[in-house]
Amino acid sequence: MTSTDVSEARRPIGVFDSGVGGLTVVRALRARLPGEDVVYLGDTARVPYGSKSPRTVERYSLACQAFLLARDVKLVLVACNTASANALPALRAASPVPVIGAVDPGAESALAATRSGHIGVIGTLGTVRSGAYERALAARPGVRVASLACPLFVPLAEEGWTDAGDAVARAVARRYLGELFARDAAIDTIVLGCTHYPLLRGVITATARELAGRDVAIVDSATAMAEAAAVALRRGPPALAQGERGALACFATDTSRLDEIAPCFLGEPVTSFELVDL
Ligand code: DGL
Repeated sequence: MTSTDVSEARRPIGVFDSGVGGLTVVRALRARLPGEDVVYLGDTARVPYGSKSPRTVERYSLACQAFLLARDVKLVLVACNTASANALPALRAASPVPVIGAVDPGAESALAATRSGHIGVIGTLGTVRSGAYERALAARPGVRVASLACPLFVPLAEEGWTDAGDAVARAVARRYLGELFARDAAIDTIVLGCTHYPLLRGVITATARELAGRDVAIVDSATAMAEAAAVALRRGPPALAQGERGALACFATDTSRLDEIAPCFLGEPVTSFELVDL
C-alpha cells in the first residue's frame, strides 16, 4: 500500500441530514464500516426540510454538502430522504466525490422484500410530493406504489414516544397506516422513507400487522446506504486495522436538545456537537 493510498483511505466519510435523524444512517455506517472516520452535519437550525419547497431544500442541501467537502470527505451520504428526493442531481453535479442518496437504496430494499409488488412509501411531505420513490420503484414492471406523508412521526420520534406500546404513537400510526392501506389493501412492504421513522419501527410493524391481518415487511434506507458506501469504497484499502474504531466528529447548526436526542438515533453516546454556521 503506498502512502497516497493510506492518506486517501484515511479521509473521512461525510454524512448530512436536516437534523439528528441522519444519525440512524451513521449508526448503520459504523456497524458496516467500523474502521472509517465519519464527519456528520445536522442542519438543526433549519430543520425541518420536509415541509419546505424543493428549491429551499436544494439550497440548504448544497450548503451542507459544501461544509463536508471542505473537510475533505471521500464520499458523501445524504441521510435526509427529503434532501435525497429533491436535491440529489444538484448535489452530484457539485461534488468531486461520489454522493449516495437515501431513495435508491431504500427502493432496492423494498423491491427485494416485496412478494406481491404492492409497496407503501411513507415519508415527509417533501419526499412524497417529489415522487422520487415512485420513480425508483417503477423501474420494476408490475410494481404498484401508494405513498403517504406522515409528518407527525418526526416529533414523536424526537420526543422519544416510540415504544411499541405507546398509546399516542399507536393512535397516530393507526390513522396514517389506515389511510395507506385504504389506498391499497394489498401492500406487503412499507418503506420508511424518512430518517426518523426507524425509531418507530416497532409501532409501525405492529400497527401494519394489525391493520393488514398479516405480516408486512418494513424496510428503511439506513442499512442499504451503508452497504452502498461499502461498495463505493470497495477498491480502497481498509482504513484501520481490524477491531479499531473510526472517529466520529459531529457538527450542527444549532445545539438545542442535541445531548438529549442524538444518542437515541445514534445508539451510542455522542461525545459532542460542534456548533457551526453555514
Ligand atoms: N430528515 C428528514 C427526512 O429524512 C426528516 C426531518 C425533516 O423534515 O427535515 O426526510
